[in-house]
Amino acid sequence: MELYTDVAGQYADFATYARGDSPCFEEWAAAVAGDSEVLAWVSSLPPVKQQPNLVFAAARWHGVPAAAPYDALRAALLGDDGAIRATILERATQTNEVGRLATLVPAFTLLADGRPVSLLEVGASAGLCLYPDRYAYAWTTGSGVRTAGAGPVLRCEVTGPAPLPDRLPEVAWRGGIDLNPLDVTDDDAMGWLTTLVWPEHDDRRARLVDAIEVARSDPPVLVRGDLLDELPSLVERAGRHGPVVVFHSAVIAYLEDNDRQRFSSMMRDLVAADRCHWVSNEGPRVLPDVTATAPGEVPSGKFVLGIDGRAVAWTHGHGRSIAWLG
Ligand SMILES: C[S@@+](CC[C@H](N)C(=O)[O-])C[C@H]1O[C@@H](n2cnc3c(N)ncnc32)[C@H](O)[C@@H]1O
Repeated sequence: MELYTDVAGQYADFATYARGDSPCFEEWAAAVAGDSEVLAWVSSLPPVKQQPNLVFAAARWHGVPAAAPYDALRAALLGDDGAIRATILERATQTNEVGRLATLVPAFTLLADGRPVSLLEVGASAGLCLYPDRYAYAWTTGSGVRTAGAGPVLRCEVTGPAPLPDRLPEVAWRGGIDLNPLDVTDDDAMGWLTTLVWPEHDDRRARLVDAIEVARSDPPVLVRGDLLDELPSLVERAGRHGPVVVFHSAVIAYLEDNDRQRFSSMMRDLVAADRCHWVSNEGPRVLPDVTATAPGEVPSGKFVLGIDGRAVAWTHGHGRSIAWLG
């Protein structure tokens, strides 16, 4: 019998996901997938802690160089005196990527319809995505670059008839929920967020510095708790300030299957009761009911952007591109 096949499969999948985005992580993940000693080390972690992103970030937190060959990672994991393991157990992958805003803003624009909106993010991490109105956007389309807003620039390649605004939607209120909200004024927490950025992505590290400054100038309301428990009362609170848009990106994948289903039903009920709109941005297998509404083949490695349960676009996971469905 082959041991560690699930962990090996997870790392092989991650190598595919990282292809073209991070040659280092592609190499590391593919190497782990074929390395029985390292697979045994990773398999000794609790299942939720075996993720490549978390293991690689913890190793880098303890000095493993990246981008760099696999050997140093291998030596660090197999020779770990407990420090890397402790970091993996203490911390989580809470990557907070404001680049995603370039793909979320078209959805917010449609839903705002000219009115100020209350933005409520589930799985907000440090809440950095709660400030769509504090950035400049440069959307490259087939007919030139469309711009809007002022502030640090977020760039995105656009295909299809995306509703790109000339004026950004106004935000009447912003707040979020997270199991472990990160405090933008805490240097250690922000250091960990920085370590979660993939090795070759200098542009994302620079953007993160800007995003932390934006949030520090006006720290967000973040509620600690499980999104399934906290969402209804926070929708109520947000609704006092304007029409509510609940949104999330790269979050629902962290829920067990039955909780994903519960969340999807909860959102559909809230939308049907006219208490909020819903913008989802997740991998295609995470909310299959949303993905099933998209025409044609699911492009590999993309997220599905949904509005009120219907797919409207394919997006790059870090916001580098959006393909609006025609
Ligand atoms: C990968 S981060 C994404 C952060 C942010 N949405 C973004 O796009 O930049 C996922 C976040 O979801 C949070 N999370 C996961 N499960 C959750 C749950 N059941 N309730 C609340 N937050 C959760 C994690 O703590 C983490 O901060």
